[in-house]
Amino acid sequence: ASELPKGYTLRPLQKSDHAEFLSVLTILTKVGDISFETWSARYDWMAARNDEYFVIVIENDLGKVVAVGSLIIEKKLLLSPLVLQVSLHSHTRALSNGDEVDSIRNCAAVGHIEDIAVAADQQGKKLGLRIIQALDAIAQQVGCYKSILDCSEKNQGFYEKCGFKLAGVQMAHYY
Ligand code: ACO
Repeated sequence: ASELPKGYTLRPLQKSDHAEFLSVLTILTKVGDISFETWSARYDWMAARNDEYFVIVIENDLGKVVAVGSLIIEKKLLLSPLVLQVSLHSHTRALSNGDEVDSIRNCAAVGHIEDIAVAADQQGKKLGLRIIQALDAIAQQVGCYKSILDCSEKNQGFYEKCGFKLAGVQMAHYY
């Protein structure tokens, strides 16, 4: 089983995590000065889309947020490769299973993993791994056939330990 250090808990983001969440994220990126009002409006926007945006945190034994991660669900207008396989297979033998018929009607979904960060003094305790495992589990539960992410070369080894494989090249167009 996936165990957190004693006293640590993994839970969904709460609005009151404002300062602690942003503080953990500064290890990854420029966060800027985000007021509680701005944070709160974006939090409400995401909460209204709670089947698309999943933001989780790990708090330590003192109740402080020490690791964070996000999953965004992208819904496609096409069937997932896995469903296509079933459908191809089903073609050669009569469809008998209701579940298969249902899954064939479903369009694909892909998980996007974003903004993974573990506080500097908390790294190396498998918190990053637990965040990824939790996001992977959510992605599977909501029907994604894969999850993808972009990372720097220095983090490639971490994501490989989490079960990811190198696939393609990241492109960016900054405005
Ligand atoms: N390269 C190779 N292996 C690594 C690396 C790395 N950079 N980091 C961790 N590992 C290994 C660990 O040794 C461990 O291996 P083991 O199971 O053999 O012992 C395994 O990966 C799991 O490591 P964790 O302890 O879970 O890693 P940690 O909690 O320190 O989190 C993370 C890793 C998230 C990269 C952390 O170092 C961090 O926050 N870095 C700064 C922010 C950052 O770069 N975030 C990722 C951005 S990419 C994105 O968000 C999609």
